Amino acid sequence: MIGIPEAFARGTIEREGEVGATWIAELPVIVTELLGRWGCVPDGGAAHGGVGVVVPVRRHGAADAVLKVSFPHPGNVHEPDAFAVWGGRGAVRLYERDDARFAMLLERVRASDLGEVEDEDEVVRVAGLISRRLAVPAPPGLPRLRERAGAWEESLRRDAEELAHPLSRRVIDVAVATVRELGGTQPDVLIHGDLHARNILRADREPWLAVDPKGYAGDPAYDGGNLLKTRAPALLGADDLRRAVDRTLDVFTEAAEIDRERTRRWAQLHAVQAAFWGRRHGFRRARSGPQRDVLTEIMDSLAQLLTDRS
Ligand SMILES: Nc1ncnc2c1ncn2[C@@H]1O[C@H](COP(=O)(O)OP(=O)(O)O)[C@@H](O)[C@H]1O
Ligand SMILES: [Mg+2]
Repeated sequence: MIGIPEAFARGTIEREGEVGATWIAELPVIVTELLGRWGCVPDGGAAHGGVGVVVPVRRHGAADAVLKVSFPHPGNVHEPDAFAVWGGRGAVRLYERDDARFAMLLERVRASDLGEVEDEDEVVRVAGLISRRLAVPAPPGLPRLRERAGAWEESLRRDAEELAHPLSRRVIDVAVATVRELGGTQPDVLIHGDLHARNILRADREPWLAVDPKGYAGDPAYDGGNLLKTRAPALLGADDLRRAVDRTLDVFTEAAEIDRERTRRWAQLHAVQAAFWGRRHGFRRARSGPQRDVLTEIMDSLAQLLTDRS
């Protein structure tokens, strides 16, 4: 029977409580059943992210694959839809799916991700090129990000009022203006939805391929803003943070062929949302404690810095 990584089991149970514990207990059986059905045998230890366990597998006479089984959560429903639309363009191929089990059999790529690359320009450029490749028309049935704008605005107002935070009135107003002006008018373009360096893996068919998409229809600059937010801790080492942020915007938007100003505005909104999220829920990397506070303060600084830039 396949071993479920201990950290994955613990993280799931911490986050999901009893429902998570029940699912973790069932998971080895689910994996075994799917391996049998799809003619696979395990080929190495399981990897994991925050929501899914990923088992490398071999299939007789077919390319190496991985079995990914995600925690059954609404946020994980559209991952296979996105892979199916891309058909291998900029992302790993989808071989099989079992939606009831939140399971997929995916093309296997290398066990190395873009987060391991040291050259910051290269990280951002590759993420931009991937974003460009993923930007194709979104089919009906995928979640439209424009429909979330109302809820985003409400959360911003509530968080700004309820939480203790150092963000100025102007930072909040600028974020709300972005939601109003960009949030509600997003195109029907398929975007990744959780674009960051650890979700871009080294491959052979293309040099890098995306995994772990949310599969939203929305503005590709939303992904650019998210990417920038996730680079903030890496940029902190720079002598001049403002210049480093400007550089990230330049490199990403040139590779992705998208508008720089739009991307800056989305990044500002993402930073404000993350500053509030960190205060309410913590981050995956640090749910509480001093590391959580450091990350929250990084988001405060980024939000402020992106507000001042016009
Ligand atoms: N197609 C794949 N080929 C090889 N390794 C993969 C593949 N998909 C995922 N992985 C490995 O599993 C990890 C978690 O996968 P991911 O889809 O990002 O899960 P999560 O949704 O939990 O974040 C990745 O960081 C990577 O190490
Ligand atoms: Mg991931």
